[in-house]
Amino acid sequence: MNISHRPVLLDEAVSALLAGPIQVNPLYLDGTFGRGGHSRKILANLPLEGRLIAMDKDPQAIEEAGKIEDSRFRIVHDSFASMGDYLEPSSLDGILLDLGISSPQIDQAERGFSFRMDGPLDMRMNNKEGQSAQEWLAIASEKELHKVIKEYGEERFALSIAKAIVARRQERGTPQTTAELAQLVAGAVKTRESGQDPATRTFQAFRIFINGELEELQQALEASLNILEPGGKLVVISFHSLEDRIVKQFIAKHSKAPFDRRAPFAVPKAMQLQSIARVKPSDEEIKRNPRARSAIMRVAQKLSSPTGALA
Ligand SMILES: C[S@@+](CC[C@H](N)C(=O)[O-])C[C@H]1O[C@@H](n2cnc3c(N)ncnc32)[C@H](O)[C@@H]1O
Repeated sequence: MNISHRPVLLDEAVSALLAGPIQVNPLYLDGTFGRGGHSRKILANLPLEGRLIAMDKDPQAIEEAGKIEDSRFRIVHDSFASMGDYLEPSSLDGILLDLGISSPQIDQAERGFSFRMDGPLDMRMNNKEGQSAQEWLAIASEKELHKVIKEYGEERFALSIAKAIVARRQERGTPQTTAELAQLVAGAVKTRESGQDPATRTFQAFRIFINGELEELQQALEASLNILEPGGKLVVISFHSLEDRIVKQFIAKHSKAPFDRRAPFAVPKAMQLQSIARVKPSDEEIKRNPRARSAIMRVAQKLSSPTGALA
């Protein structure tokens, strides 16, 4: 089955990543290889002596990356949260994170991400390890279910959905498939948001929880400060407000000189980042690729000196 992924903000992200003075032996990281749309464009614009390291959790993405025959390219099967394990401090000229899931992950029923197709309730980006959504649903308490659906799905009917899952578990066992879960959620959601399936928020919540998405994003952002070199770019494309809030707050926090209330006259510590841009897809891109509609790209640059000036 050849299901491909249409990269979002392709030109904008790669231009932002590679912008600036030409570096000697530049090194970039694509933390979310997917089907390699961004990676291939980076390689097409990379000088001969440059290098690109890409990462992905998904074994299918790793298989796809194996098709790239380019001595400047290397793929790592791991979470981008561990990027610091593979890279030296101040070694990178740029990091790209294109968050969330790829079209092949959504469009293959057996991955269990979609409520539009019936498949096993899996939802793991790395489907070779960890707990599947079905395994977790079999043991999660009502309180835990409620918390996850409310926090990660921002779902008004989180409590009714959590109660419905527990009741169903007691009566007939844990839902086994995406269609069973979607039907159960639809029965517990009182009013539907226009244009949105009643299961949208709950599926988003379970996916975020099962893959530890927000914690791993936070860890990756923290690691990026150490491995980016001065002038290096951080480019992050988010697809929902929970992700974008983390990226926005991280950039804002490190773009201000930290103020120590206990030592108000001390020499200020250095700002570490400078926010450069916030970009949304054009209307044409959204028309061509409706999955781009919720995307927001934020770009920041690593700073070096105590005043926050570039190296
Ligand atoms: C939106 S897709 C990226 C698409 C890619 N830019 C392209 O053009 O084909 C997101 C990819 O990131 C991967 N991913 C998500 N979270 C990850 C994480 N914490 N570590 C590594 N890969 C992750 C997913 O498995 C998926 O393949």
